[in-house]
Amino acid sequence: MSFIKKLGTMTAAVSVAALMVAGAADAKNFKIAVGDGGGGTQEALGLAFIEALEENTNGQHTASLFLNGQLGSEQDTVNDAAIGTLDFSILAINNVTPFSPTVGTLTLPYMILSLEDAEKLTQGPVGQELVENTIRDAGVRIIGWAYSGFRVLTNSKKPVTTVADMQDLVVRVPKNEIMIATYQSWGVNPTPMAWSETFAALQTKVVDGQDNPYITNYAMKFDEVQKYVTNLRYLFSIEPLIVSESVFQSLSEEEQKAVLAAGEAATAFSAQYLRDQEAEIKGVLQERGMEISDPANNEEEFITLATEAVWPQFYESVGGVEKVNAALAAIGRDPVQE
Ligand code: MLT
Repeated sequence: MSFIKKLGTMTAAVSVAALMVAGAADAKNFKIAVGDGGGGTQEALGLAFIEALEENTNGQHTASLFLNGQLGSEQDTVNDAAIGTLDFSILAINNVTPFSPTVGTLTLPYMILSLEDAEKLTQGPVGQELVENTIRDAGVRIIGWAYSGFRVLTNSKKPVTTVADMQDLVVRVPKNEIMIATYQSWGVNPTPMAWSETFAALQTKVVDGQDNPYITNYAMKFDEVQKYVTNLRYLFSIEPLIVSESVFQSLSEEEQKAVLAAGEAATAFSAQYLRDQEAEIKGVLQERGMEISDPANNEEEFITLATEAVWPQFYESVGGVEKVNAALAAIGRDPVQE
């Protein structure tokens, strides 16, 4: 876990730099809310952003991370940033969708099939349009993206490899209509719940399971309360760094450029972080006792049920079937018919 140690050192460096600029009249120390605990992709994106921001502003501006939902649930941080009481937040894209429905293009089940797909969609014209829509709809600007890998299903009861195995599980999902509909397509009525309440709900067995990427499960210490993992690939988790649009507009043109460039640098760092860390972290979770299964028949049953039932339900909210087809074209896949 050498890289994670390095990130710890970066945190110390950040604090020193913050002290150095404290005397400057217009020095800023932005607040960044982070939904996950330390040791995951959200923290890595945040630290990389801070390092680049300091560099781009010659140490004048810095930022501090508030991990583990200290500044509120992920969905609450979108509201807080929209009204300008919070500067930045790093959160899962599924928790932005309720405020900016077209972002749901990226949370349609089995839309994104690899990290490369995720990079193409977020960093190309599709992503740019979603950024603009999110400013318009939610009052926040996406300036960077963390890539966290596929969300795998975890539970405390039994190995799951088929849709039938899931039927008696109580599964927590984010308050996201597309994810709720996906579980319903598998015959399961999931329990929508804020991210900040999820660990306690798993620990007290109010729910049996949840899904999130390996790195997130590690950062949240879910191995302490979950035993079985199923390698679903229905959602590739993307976690944007958002800035309050009113805070962004209050910055000078130079400062805006520094913030945007820092977001780009952090995005590039995040993709490499996932490539470097995911396999190792999966191994650590196995060493800690998690049992990993692959879905039967190459996940075919899950894929067919979810794509046939869920996609058509959300064409309208994501902006029309043509938006879905633009995303599919961007990653070299065939269009769908309405
Ligand atoms: C959620 O499940 O609500 C989110 O994916 C959690 C996260 O931000 O990692």
